[in-house]
Amino acid sequence: MKTIYVLNGPNLNLLGVRDPATYGAQTLADVEAACQKLAESLGLDLVFRQSNHEGELIDWLHEAGKAVAEDQSLGVVLNAGAYTHTSVALADAISGAFVPTIEVHISNVHAREAFRHHSYLSPVAAGVIVGLGTYGYEAGIRALAQLQEA
Ligand code: DQA
Repeated sequence: MKTIYVLNGPNLNLLGVRDPATYGAQTLADVEAACQKLAESLGLDLVFRQSNHEGELIDWLHEAGKAVAEDQSLGVVLNAGAYTHTSVALADAISGAFVPTIEVHISNVHAREAFRHHSYLSPVAAGVIVGLGTYGYEAGIRALAQLQEA
């Protein structure tokens, strides 16, 4: 059974509390439960993690890249939070580890402040999902499952 990694960056542990008008009422535990249910229905294993630390996210991308190379994983659904807009290191981890990555944002970052319009990750992502709310995570999992069949 192949694994899908869902990785969350800074402040996403505050989901449900943080700015519900922008991010909705669901908590990260709710998102994890929905992803778990979907992964099971697709016959996939789910690893769901959150970190407020850039280096930890980089280590997890490397781990996922190794699992993909060993044919154990389909890739990563990544909501890197604000690191999306700042982190060359995360972009290098995605490309350096050859890990198929679907970039997800709960909010429509293009309808928000200008500093959220640029992503260091989009050029190295397999796909980008923005503005679908927390359903974006499920769409990301479905996309990874679909991409392997293509
Ligand atoms: C976010 C958008 C980012 O700009 C922001 O810093 C986040 C969450 C989203 O899911 O919409 O932390 O990635």
